[in-house]
Amino acid sequence: MSRRAVNALLGIGLLTTLTGFVGTTLAYLWPLRSTRWSDLLMGSDGPLLPDDISINSGVVAHSRIGKVLVVRTDTRLIAVEATCTHLGCLVAWNADSQQIECPCHGARYNLRGEVLRGPARESLARVELNEQAEGIRVISTEA
Ligand code: FES
Repeated sequence: MSRRAVNALLGIGLLTTLTGFVGTTLAYLWPLRSTRWSDLLMGSDGPLLPDDISINSGVVAHSRIGKVLVVRTDTRLIAVEATCTHLGCLVAWNADSQQIECPCHGARYNLRGEVLRGPARESLARVELNEQAEGIRVISTEA
């Protein structure tokens, strides 16, 4: 193999390495522009759809803000952050008591996320949702 061929192969190898490095760096630094998918609540099988939640039931879904408890009342969806403000356990909707309950130490909240019974002292943050055909979208949170 001639010296020229070796230099050409080295050049191609160097170019390939640099292209990979630059591409990876740009992909890392480039901000995630697509909020379209990242705003959707995700269930175990993909985006959580409005019909996935029956009346008087609650579902915990994943989202860009963490886990969210979504409860369907007779008229609408209500959502709060699903992490208990006491020590961080996952809360759940109890249809019988009509309360949000923490299984770890027994804290209870109402549908507005307000504490009904300790040991939790702070409310669960409320999450504003928007129901769309492709899924349920997180609009904002408020403490
Ligand atoms: Fe929920 Fe303690 S973590 S009551």
